[in-house]
Amino acid sequence: MFYFGVDFYPEHWPEDYWPEAARLMAEARFNVVRLAEFAWSKMEPKEGQFDFSWLDSAIDILAQHDMRIVLGTPTASPPAWLLNKYPDIFRVREDQLRLTYGNRREYCPSNRRYIEYSSKIVGQMAQHYAHHPAVIGWQIDNEFGERCYCPNCAEAFRKWLHCRYQTLDELNDKWGTVFWSHTYGGWEEIPVPLTTGGSPNPGLALDFYRFSSDSYQAYQQKQIDLLREKCPQHFITHNCMGFKYDRIDYFNLARPLDFVAWDNYPSTQWSQQTEVDPSLLALAHASMRGLKRRNFWVIEQQAGPAGWEIVSTAPRPGQLRLWAYQSIAHGADGILFFRWRTNRFGTEQHWHGLLDADGRPGRRYEEVRRMGCEITKLGGVIDGSIIKASIAMLHSYEARFAFQIQANNPQFSYPEHFHQIYKAFYDRRVPVDIVCPTDDLGDYKLVIAPALHIVSEAVAENLKRFVQAGGVLVVTPRSGVKDEANAVVDLPLPGLLAELCGVKVEEYDSLLPDMSQVLEFVSAEIAPNPQPSARVWCDILAPEDAEIVARYTCDFYAGKPAITINQYGQGKAIYVGTFGDKELYDTLADWVLRLTGLQRSISAPAGIEVTERWQGDRRLLFILNHTARCHEITLDGNYTNLLDGSSRVRGTVVIPPHDVLILTPST
Ligand code: GLA
Ligand code: ZN
Repeated sequence: MFYFGVDFYPEHWPEDYWPEAARLMAEARFNVVRLAEFAWSKMEPKEGQFDFSWLDSAIDILAQHDMRIVLGTPTASPPAWLLNKYPDIFRVREDQLRLTYGNRREYCPSNRRYIEYSSKIVGQMAQHYAHHPAVIGWQIDNEFGERCYCPNCAEAFRKWLHCRYQTLDELNDKWGTVFWSHTYGGWEEIPVPLTTGGSPNPGLALDFYRFSSDSYQAYQQKQIDLLREKCPQHFITHNCMGFKYDRIDYFNLARPLDFVAWDNYPSTQWSQQTEVDPSLLALAHASMRGLKRRNFWVIEQQAGPAGWEIVSTAPRPGQLRLWAYQSIAHGADGILFFRWRTNRFGTEQHWHGLLDADGRPGRRYEEVRRMGCEITKLGGVIDGSIIKASIAMLHSYEARFAFQIQANNPQFSYPEHFHQIYKAFYDRRVPVDIVCPTDDLGDYKLVIAPALHIVSEAVAENLKRFVQAGGVLVVTPRSGVKDEANAVVDLPLPGLLAELCGVKVEEYDSLLPDMSQVLEFVSAEIAPNPQPSARVWCDILAPEDAEIVARYTCDFYAGKPAITINQYGQGKAIYVGTFGDKELYDTLADWVLRLTGLQRSISAPAGIEVTERWQGDRRLLFILNHTARCHEITLDGNYTNLLDGSSRVRGTVVIPPHDVLILTPST
């Protein structure tokens, strides 16, 4: 079944409103509601006094309308009594400032006392709802993140280091602490990388970021253990923050979860735009799908204008439905809109729900109600359907952490570089998976490793295995530069990938913002138009076995190779020595698609997204108009329109602004 529903905070309205809310939810064909996340002080108003009666009543009312319930554990917003009693729970920022009460997420994940109190409330909830027929699963906490630099964390970090390195000699050696006399003679001497400590040793900083990510993972695991023990029949998830969030290694965080959930806000107070770039949303979906290489839920899907202190533009008619269908088009098996009704009070009183604060159903509710009817009509067509991709991009949180510590070039941004490459394939309507560098790559024909800064032996072997067996690999600059301790390798770059790429980086040039140069393609197979340019970074290449694909045209390295291709085993490794412009990635995408024989799905005008899900051999084609204009697209055969009650379509179809088509080939 497809899960379609809403995030509801019954505690924000009087009880006599709940039946009306449940009735309207049922009219929108909702079948799932998330509750209780952030409601700690309602469930444990005083230490050790638990009260679930209000939540029981809310669940009963919703269950009368057949809603399934997902419960959020409330640990993202600790009650005032707890933090007043134990102020050492407050997280300490990088600048050593300890947070104070008044927002949320103010806790330190390594704090033993906090873990104990979290276990109590979660244990009580689990006990109380283990056998409730309406409850189907749990969301742990809310949007884990933000590093803590408190003394507890410093101590836990040292223990973590002890486990990782065993001896101080090993740690000193790996970090290179001989530099500036940082050699540590006792574990207790090791600091955390506070801003007051200036630019830290890169090895120490990377390990601290890893530790920080692990500490949330460990905190999450405590809750998972409790829930698995008491509620073995329920699923467990956590709401992640898409591709943009980079303080936690989401691959690790996702491992013990049943599936990944994430929060999708296309147009926010920060972005302030009406025409959202849909490729950014697609990338976020793909990155979340890649965490466990399976479908996911969007457990918070935008329901209206977003805002805390300021208010975002209003989503245009059709956009909420469009964005929700886009989630499905990329692998969502559940969508819950955040939130049901706009709140009158609290920090998020301008973060709009499906209903306004006055509670009357309006345009946004109607749009989603229409979608609810459509989803019901689609029936089981989406169930069990998956995305199939022959291209993978390797997403490395370690590389992101390392670039947070040392940007290399102020114009370089790992997520922007990643997106630029992703977008070239997105524009060509070819599906891309986003996976972990250590994942098995056997399902793919083409793998792209953008700025894979840290390369372990295991990752290098994985990539060699992939190419050896016939895969095509694309590697971009600053790959293979560092070892796992964030020290530069003592090998010619790209380090452990040099042999595979058949090339050495002879020298490099980190460019200023106004520096760029045209690339000259020497391979007859590639005739770019317009001509791509190198920017930001130029690796000056010395091919060993590789063939030259493109050369630089300016400066002291005019004529030197910029892009190469190397035959390795049955496959090929392409080294792209520059962070180029859009034209470069368009040119490369066309070329590697030809090389690998990968097909585009049907072609469509800019702003029209085309994706596929497969239910066995049945192809479901999603066509999404992200623009405010009508567009025509030409179909490649006879299709059945699944959204309008199965009309037949062929030839040219018109797709209105912000509208969606879901088609399947007719037999
Ligand atoms: C996040 C949180 C929600 C809510 C929204 C809007 O995604 O998960 O609780 O705060 O943002 O700010
Ligand atoms: Zn801490």
